[in-house]
Amino acid sequence: MTATETTGFPRFPRGFFFGAATASYQIEGAHDEGGRGTSIWDTYCREPGRVADGATGDVACDHYHRYPEDVALLRDLGVDSYRFSVAWPRIQPDGSGKANAEGLDFYDRLVDELLAAGIAPAATLYHWDLPQALEDRGGWRVRETAERFADYTRLVVDRLGDRVPRWITLNEPFCSAFVGYAIGRHAPGAREGRGALAAAHHLLVGHGLAVRALREAGATDVGITLNPDRLLPATGSPEDLAAVRRAETLHNDVWLDPLFAGRYPQGEADTWGAMADGSYRRDGDLLTIGAPLDFVGINYYRPITIADAPYRDEDPATRTAVDVRVRETWRDDVRHTTMGWPVVPHTFTDLLVDLSRRYPALPPVVITENGSAEDDSVAADGQVHDADRVAYLRDHLQALSEAIEAGVDVRGYYVWSLMDNFEWAFGYAKRFGIVRVDYDTLERLPKDSYRWYRDMIGAHRQAHT
Ligand code: FCB
Repeated sequence: MTATETTGFPRFPRGFFFGAATASYQIEGAHDEGGRGTSIWDTYCREPGRVADGATGDVACDHYHRYPEDVALLRDLGVDSYRFSVAWPRIQPDGSGKANAEGLDFYDRLVDELLAAGIAPAATLYHWDLPQALEDRGGWRVRETAERFADYTRLVVDRLGDRVPRWITLNEPFCSAFVGYAIGRHAPGAREGRGALAAAHHLLVGHGLAVRALREAGATDVGITLNPDRLLPATGSPEDLAAVRRAETLHNDVWLDPLFAGRYPQGEADTWGAMADGSYRRDGDLLTIGAPLDFVGINYYRPITIADAPYRDEDPATRTAVDVRVRETWRDDVRHTTMGWPVVPHTFTDLLVDLSRRYPALPPVVITENGSAEDDSVAADGQVHDADRVAYLRDHLQALSEAIEAGVDVRGYYVWSLMDNFEWAFGYAKRFGIVRVDYDTLERLPKDSYRWYRDMIGAHRQAHT
């Protein structure tokens, strides 16, 4: 028996790395400091009824001021890497032109603090906080935003490229395009058809242009973070299976096909009809989008159940891009997290195995997010005994190790999230952290899951020394 077998922790190959992830708008606060401009999330949060309890990211976890304490938590956790995101409106308050020095200085300090703690920084360039000025000019619906994204990327990599070894262009473009421009439950809160499909395309073009900028600056570990979904048919009926195909186009193929198969999704005509007229595409875009990557980041939380359903809106002029004649539900025969998400760990293995079979050109995988929101409370002993989160993490890491055994090339894992934070439209009501944040005092309190993760990383290191 090896050391890890006796510890009961999931086992990972030598060289596999562990990290923790966050995102700028969800933790930084300091919304009007350091010359930061307004992002679409600042605007969205101020629109009545958009975010639970009228919450905003104005203060969030105040990471902008407390980053040394947060880096110390990461150091004690023993992670190899920390995934954070850069707030575009800190670098270019109006989304274009020269860099705001104070914005770059903040990330410069953060990166140096991480390196001093022996932690490799992994920077996400876009985790949804688009400068409002660019949204006012059309946002991701227009190609110009993709070009501005490349300019911004250049400013960031020119400053941090000598010390940041890993770069992620976009986080979950599915959410930017479809939750932001079709469902309207994320900023900018639009409900559109063709506009959302154009946004999806321009996000991919922006990714490709950013990859070019990163390469020109010498970056050698570059990827994109997607949230491919594991879609389960509600029944085995031909109608439900066809509905799964359409949902695959919407959730997965839109991103994976251009990135890793050099084509636009084959099922798009059946899924969207004339809405997918491709008028936003230009010759050469597929080449730009398909630039080779060093890894693909995958965020995974839960499977979705799909059933056939009629159009919610028959009028092609007002139908949204997410209305692809499917009904999405959650499995109800398993435990649910406080997001209402079903906990089905083996679907994590299945997703990864399936992706690597469907896309032979898929680069190595890095899990850039995985975790759970639970009903945490501080117990009488002053601690947070988040047994459900520990079980979730253990079972998903086990499922991940099974994907690796089945031959999927996975290089690392980032837990979502280092600390409780602003969970978008849910405000502060959902807690994903392995560290609790008291939003009155902003005090940080490591939970049982933090200690479990620390011990797992320790056991992994010991097994490979
Ligand atoms: C993902 C987001 C991340 C966080 C988790 C729970 O979709 O990338 O910011 O909100 O979900």
